[in-house]
Amino acid sequence: MNFPSLSNAKKRTDKKVEEKKVCYDFPNFFQNKKYFLRTYGCQMNVHDSEEIKKYLELLGFVETKELEESDLVVLNTCAIRENAHDKVFGYLGRCKHLKREKPELLIAIGGCMSQEDSVVEEIKTKHPYVDIVFGTHNISELPRLLLEHQKKEQEIEVYSIEGDVYEGIKYQRDSKITAWVNIMYGCDKFCTYCIVPYTRGKERSRKLENIVFEVQELKKQGYKEVTLLGQNVNAYGRDLQLGYDFKDLLERVAETKIERIRFVTSHPWNFTDEMIDVIAKYENIMPYIHLPLQSGSDSILKLMGRRYTKKEYIELFQKIKKRIPNVSITTDIIVGFPNETENDFLETLDVVNTCQFDSAFTFIYSPREGTPASLIKDTITLEEKEKRLQRLNEFVNRYSLKANQALEGKIVPVLVLGENEKDKTRVYGYTDTMKLVNINKGADCIGQIVSVKITEAKSFSLDGEMIESGECV
Ligand code: 5AD
Ligand code: SF4
Repeated sequence: MNFPSLSNAKKRTDKKVEEKKVCYDFPNFFQNKKYFLRTYGCQMNVHDSEEIKKYLELLGFVETKELEESDLVVLNTCAIRENAHDKVFGYLGRCKHLKREKPELLIAIGGCMSQEDSVVEEIKTKHPYVDIVFGTHNISELPRLLLEHQKKEQEIEVYSIEGDVYEGIKYQRDSKITAWVNIMYGCDKFCTYCIVPYTRGKERSRKLENIVFEVQELKKQGYKEVTLLGQNVNAYGRDLQLGYDFKDLLERVAETKIERIRFVTSHPWNFTDEMIDVIAKYENIMPYIHLPLQSGSDSILKLMGRRYTKKEYIELFQKIKKRIPNVSITTDIIVGFPNETENDFLETLDVVNTCQFDSAFTFIYSPREGTPASLIKDTITLEEKEKRLQRLNEFVNRYSLKANQALEGKIVPVLVLGENEKDKTRVYGYTDTMKLVNINKGADCIGQIVSVKITEAKSFSLDGEMIESGECV
């Protein structure tokens, strides 16, 4: 099979990954100018935006939430499905309009879409008013690109896939309670539908001691929770060949005694028994696992390149449920992979009925240029795919509600994150099992783990009351 036009795929080589320090030696040149940053996509992008914000603030920019007020717009983009593309180009239309009224406005585009040749081409030819295009591998170059930018010329600087691992990155974190911590970048799995291995490059793990140090620092600053981030956390450490893997990292992070540890995303293929044992052993590793299924049909799983069968997935699921008390497991499912038959789809429903996930993100397959699956001629109509998605969602929502209802009347630990935006008399937070709870009163407990009695279950959230009003545990 020929792999079409993602040049980054061709550029993947065995070049040794280097560890580099980020340089913060740049002037505060844009003092009091305003930036507007819009983030699309996954947690990795959200965390990248925290890095971008820090550079912008060190350059002197201050954040505005109003596009119309801004002197610089940064779009941190996502490429995972076609609709993500459409959203970005739609929004770019608004920015173009604004730039007509305000010609000095700077527009920068970063993130996964920038790593696609076809997108860069489209920006060059159809969107010449975009000032800067930067990629996922050179976020730390953004200050230089902004400083060097000569207003009239478009500047495109996107590195190929051989990104290095940067240490000492500073972040403008969105929360003072929970923090994202990158443990690795990229993905080597090459699921046939997925663009991530092309836009994010090969797997590059950060050294264990650097991650542990970052968590210790966060703990000192008062953070209660860290979420370890990677496209595929179970593969952590393999590229380093230093004799440690994800279970060792989890243990070392647990020993920092930070109160809550989460991790996303797990891949069923690399999930070892030892990892399950470590998750079960430490109280501060939360009993919550996001374990993408994608499909329940063995033939589709094979075409997807997922490296497990329906039976193996269910066995792993049941093993995790058995060994980790009270664990909640969520998943991702794609319907309408090319030529998925009704029977294939029924296999997926069968896994959903067997596993009864706490919740699931469900998607219609979206062909991504440059991926092997995009070359498969598809005979299933979009209408049929939409119907399957609807049928799937009915089951998924039923089980979410059931899992939530099982908590009614129970007392659960909740880390309170902030005020409920719609109702300021309430606060919200997450249980250890990652369920959203809206709590009556309790503003004093923001940033604390409190005991909450669940009073009502809904499909996507819980209502609860602080056991003794205002008391933090
Ligand atoms: N089409 C639809 N969904 C996709 N995902 C990844 N690539 C595609 C695609 N081409 C989904 C997978 C993955 C989640 C982050 O996005 O379910 O786990
Ligand atoms: Fe994409 Fe598969 Fe890697 Fe997940 S594991 S990022 S779905 S290639």
